[in-house]
Amino acid sequence: MTEKGLREVVAAATSISDIDGTHGRLWYVGYDIHDLAENATYEEVVYLLQNLHLPNRQELEDVTDFLVQEREVSRFLQDLMPTLAQQTSPMSMLRTSVSAASAYDPDGWDNSPEANERKALRLVAKTPTLLAMYQRMRTGQEIVPPNPKIPHAANFLAMLLGEEPSQEDADVLDTTFTLYADHTMNASTFTARIIASTLSDMFSAITGAIAALKGPLHGGANEEAMKMLEEVGSPDRAAAYVRDRLARKQKIMGFGHAVYKTMDPRATVLKRLSREVGERHGDLRWYEISERIEEVVMHQKGLSPNVDFYAASVYHVLGIPTDLMTPIFAIARMAGWTAHVREQYEDNRVIRPDSDYIGPRHQQYVPIEQRG
Ligand SMILES: CC(C)(COP(=O)(O)OP(=O)(O)OC[C@H]1O[C@@H](n2cnc3c(N)ncnc32)[C@H](O)[C@@H]1OP(=O)(O)O)[C@@H](O)C(=O)NCCC(=O)NCCS
Repeated sequence: MTEKGLREVVAAATSISDIDGTHGRLWYVGYDIHDLAENATYEEVVYLLQNLHLPNRQELEDVTDFLVQEREVSRFLQDLMPTLAQQTSPMSMLRTSVSAASAYDPDGWDNSPEANERKALRLVAKTPTLLAMYQRMRTGQEIVPPNPKIPHAANFLAMLLGEEPSQEDADVLDTTFTLYADHTMNASTFTARIIASTLSDMFSAITGAIAALKGPLHGGANEEAMKMLEEVGSPDRAAAYVRDRLARKQKIMGFGHAVYKTMDPRATVLKRLSREVGERHGDLRWYEISERIEEVVMHQKGLSPNVDFYAASVYHVLGIPTDLMTPIFAIARMAGWTAHVREQYEDNRVIRPDSDYIGPRHQQYVPIEQRG
């Protein structure tokens, strides 16, 4: 019988990303994540994941222009937003909006590779606008239209917070987008590929991916990590908090990983960013609490932080509300999800695993009046 949770089962061949869990390494198309986090912009990473090579100058200009031109969302989605902003959580808004966006995509139900590339880039371009619009609307603030003059991540912060961010803050957000952009066969990507394998459309596959990411054992962990930092409140309370939680058999959110047996390579970058952004904003409290929790969890449980742990303090200090942290993961992951969907279409066979039947056998139907 396969191990519960399909650990180590190979579900697809991919050229998009790769992990070495033992040594804590992650590559996109063969490029080390640390190299990309240090040197590439998110736009370059989007191109890389979609095309499996880094763009030259012209290619980068073209993809950037396309993303900028596609930032606006349709009137239909704008009209839907007041209800969603009032009635739903940010992840539910995103899931519903992506599903609804299929109605007005200029490529309609065209499932050609060219149409799917455009659909992928439109999802990357428009989902930040949706999220910012949602936040402004639910807090009664004026909607900030996309600014075509600034890059993807900077524009998102500007639309969200109502003012253009500093170059440093924009760069930090851009790097987090790169870190979140793809991660092999995680639950949401697998979900997207399963849906794509039935030859269902891009919007359906991404709607399913968002639904899978929503859970606290996957994307929801960065929000839970932030709530934990707030609950702990100061570094000296970390040890007691962790001990108490572990004694009650509760997980420490943002720690442990299904694949990494050592520190998640994205977490090492985020830890540095958490400190840097904290120093720059004169608010090191969240970094210090995080660092202490990390020490205590390592000491008591031998677990390292994953991507979601230090992302929480980075986003918090950038001014991002806690319940937008998972949807931000989603808008960054849009690059990877859509690349995986396109890759699945290219060499498809419907994904249909087997199961081990463990229920009773040889039962005889009993009429309802004779049942106890
Ligand atoms: C990521 C995660 C789902 C991986 O799960 P997994 O590979 O199935 O590992 P398991 O949940 O089976 O955990 C294995 C052991 O480590 C423990 N463990 C794993 N993560 C833990 C955590 N965050 N806090 C406390 N204990 C943890 C489990 O309790 C289990 O201990 P046991 O063998 O004594 O029962 C898991 O580590 C987790 O739930 N982490 C918290 C949520 C999170 O941060 N998710 C984001 C992932 S990027």
